[in-house]
Amino acid sequence: MPLKRQKPLAAVLLAAGKGTRMKSTLPKVLHAVAGQSILGHMLGLLNAIGVNKTVVVVAPDQNEVAEEARRLGASSAVQEQQLGTGDAARAALPALEGFAGDVMVLYGDHPLFTPATLEKLLKARESGAEIAFIGFKPDDPAAYGRLVLLANGDVDRIVEYKDASEEQRRIKFCSAGSFTLDAQRLGTYLAGLDNNNAQREFYLTGIVDAARKRNLRCVAIEAPAEEVLGVNSRAELALVESVMQRRLRERAMENGATLIDPSTVWFSHDTQLGRDVTVGPNVFFGPKVRVADNVRINAFCHFEDCSIGEGAIVGPYARLRPGAQIGRDVHIGNFVEVKKAVIEDGAKANHLTYIGDARVGAGSNVGAGTITCNYDGFDKHFTDIGRNVFIGSNSALVAPVKINDGAYIGAGSVITKEVEGDALAVERSEQRTVGRWAAKFRERKRAEKAAKAKSKE
Ligand code: UD1
Ligand code: MG
Repeated sequence: MPLKRQKPLAAVLLAAGKGTRMKSTLPKVLHAVAGQSILGHMLGLLNAIGVNKTVVVVAPDQNEVAEEARRLGASSAVQEQQLGTGDAARAALPALEGFAGDVMVLYGDHPLFTPATLEKLLKARESGAEIAFIGFKPDDPAAYGRLVLLANGDVDRIVEYKDASEEQRRIKFCSAGSFTLDAQRLGTYLAGLDNNNAQREFYLTGIVDAARKRNLRCVAIEAPAEEVLGVNSRAELALVESVMQRRLRERAMENGATLIDPSTVWFSHDTQLGRDVTVGPNVFFGPKVRVADNVRINAFCHFEDCSIGEGAIVGPYARLRPGAQIGRDVHIGNFVEVKKAVIEDGAKANHLTYIGDARVGAGSNVGAGTITCNYDGFDKHFTDIGRNVFIGSNSALVAPVKINDGAYIGAGSVITKEVEGDALAVERSEQRTVGRWAAKFRERKRAEKAAKAKSKE
């Protein structure tokens, strides 16, 4: 449940930067971390702290970002030219006109912030500060803006690295670029920005000077450096992913799952695991996977958009594709692929099988090598397997086809017609056995070889 705030809170996400170092045609904030766009993570975070209104600032050629923002319930504003972060924030002002409340400004490429850190920022602002900033102490302060503090610990200035003196460059406390203040004041301060600096850019951080000129307090909280990791390159994307994965693994274990080898399990942002789920090594959870209590997932499985019922045993080497609904106490074994199919309670498909566009009724047993032939090159067709059906190994079920409750399918059959309940359907040519054929064959062959050897002597 998203939080309800006492005072209205808006957010501005700056995402109009070029993202040049990603070397990608996809805008940076649409790259995925744990199966969700960076933008999606950030909007989820803002939703979690109860933000009422979010404006995403995009470049004129970033329609896809505006679209994704809209899909996720945020609005967008276009920054016509990339003249710096201060100019980018200005682009959001029309959308904030008349908004009575605070606004939180964030860079769009920091998906590792936590609700706790943003709450801390809001508390700092509530404590009587005109502007509250997020600062952090990175191992390598590199080219970050430095937070210059007053003797009492309040913020005096933010100096960009390129404009900083040698002494200022020695400061370890850096600006994460995120802050909160009254929404209307943001407009006032931005109006006064100039670009008299080393980069000829309108620096957003210049708002500190405007507030200080009025003798107002600016403060900074310290965030864990890990949360301020931004995505600027593919290597940073991978680093952010690894932090996110570590968090997701920790969350799964805190909620009562056993991960036999945590570092080899890959989660999506929305993976749901019940209690007493055991996950073996090398398991991949794509988006939209729900696993109920007491499920055992053996090594090397790949899941996406599927659900697994209580007590089921899956894998090793199972693949559950979109629309696979695995019931209670079902067994899905090695090299079994399930797509858009309901496997009802207690059914088993233990070896080398494809089940697609199908239902497998409760208690049925699908033998090794069974294939639902669901596709005719144009359309997909449905295979309906009733309850307590036994499908013999290496059977092909050519859809559309129905096998009624309690029927048996003889091994090696190609089933094209409906099978009535409790019947046996077997489709293969009758077995022929020729008595002593093998023994005679061997005798003849041995005699031939012996004769050949003799003629060579
Ligand atoms: C910024 C901060 C710096 C801070 C650092 C933290 C300023 C002036 N500097 O520097 O103090 O330590 O982040 O990572 O704010 N953007 C636009 N339009 C623009 C320019 C940028 O939307 O015209 C967006 C980018 O998409 C990005 C964000 O603003 O999300 C930050 O821009 P960037 O150029 O990376 O700022 P830094 O130089 O890293
Ligand atoms: Mg940056």
